[in-house]
Amino acid sequence: MGSGIAHVVALGGYDVAINDVAKERFDTALAAITKNMSRQVSSGKISEEDRDKALSRISFAETFQDFSDVDLVVEAATEDETVKRKIFVAVCPFLKPDAVLATNTSSISITRLAATTDRPERFIGMHFMNPVPVMELVEMIRGIATDDVTFTRAKDFVDTLDKTIAVSEDFPAFMVNRILLPMINEAVYTLYEGVGSVDAIDTAMRLGAHHPMGPLQLADFIGLDTCLSIMQVLYEGLADSKYRPCPLLVKYVEAGWLGRKTKRGFYDYRGETPMPTR
Ligand SMILES: NC(=O)c1ccc[n+]([C@@H]2O[C@H](COP(=O)([O-])OP(=O)(O)OC[C@H]3O[C@@H](n4cnc5c(N)ncnc54)[C@H](O)[C@@H]3O)[C@@H](O)[C@H]2O)c1
Repeated sequence: MGSGIAHVVALGGYDVAINDVAKERFDTALAAITKNMSRQVSSGKISEEDRDKALSRISFAETFQDFSDVDLVVEAATEDETVKRKIFVAVCPFLKPDAVLATNTSSISITRLAATTDRPERFIGMHFMNPVPVMELVEMIRGIATDDVTFTRAKDFVDTLDKTIAVSEDFPAFMVNRILLPMINEAVYTLYEGVGSVDAIDTAMRLGAHHPMGPLQLADFIGLDTCLSIMQVLYEGLADSKYRPCPLLVKYVEAGWLGRKTKRGFYDYRGETPMPTR
């Protein structure tokens, strides 16, 4: 998600500095951005000059010190509250007082994350969709303390990226994932209970409900660890058994079969064509 956000922000004309746990992650991200922008050149969406200028605006931020002059930080690390909290605690001392801190979290409370920072009033949820260059929507979520100036600045920024905003209240998983993830979890239950195979379930939802991809294919695309984290946030945050993560989803994550990013999930991506794993 971080590389997708960097992609659209750089094309929007902004300088972008990407931080990750290691330089190799940045190299991988830059290679993906280059490939995706070149695809946009081939399809006539952007010019070669747009691509080259955008790529020249992207740099590696080795430490958070490199963020001392930025106006906006968008955190897009692993969907784990402890990881995100550690990042906020580490990054805040380096930021300008008026810099806005945004999180791309899919589900975690904006109010609670904001409380770990030195700027809850300048903290906001800016939830991009996957893949960022393709999907039109950004969910915007205010924490209890987010002030109007921050909301307007964040909204104006997203508008310049040519995205459409849907404003959500700060409740577990906001709107898109509150609706989408229980459907994916139910698809995993449908597989777990033997109602249908991976192929049958995805075919049923593609052709029977006109979804562009089946729910298990979509789960692999999102990342099964991210799906599980979101279900756990819903289950714990709303204290309702209807959000219980399917044990089969837990098992896939425990196996390290996280979907496309690990080349195995509900499908095996190591060959020419994806093959169902069940
Ligand atoms: N996958 C999706 O479809 C999707 C969609 C919308 C939002 N999101 C949200 O975006 C965020 C990232 O999701 P993702 O799918 O890109 O996850 P991912 O696991 O693919 O990538 C997470 C990245 O964060 C990096 N990271 C981990 N700890 C870090 C640290 N301490 N400092 C710096 N970098 C660190 C990892 O090295 C990795 O590159 C999550 O909050 C997720 O909920 C995901």
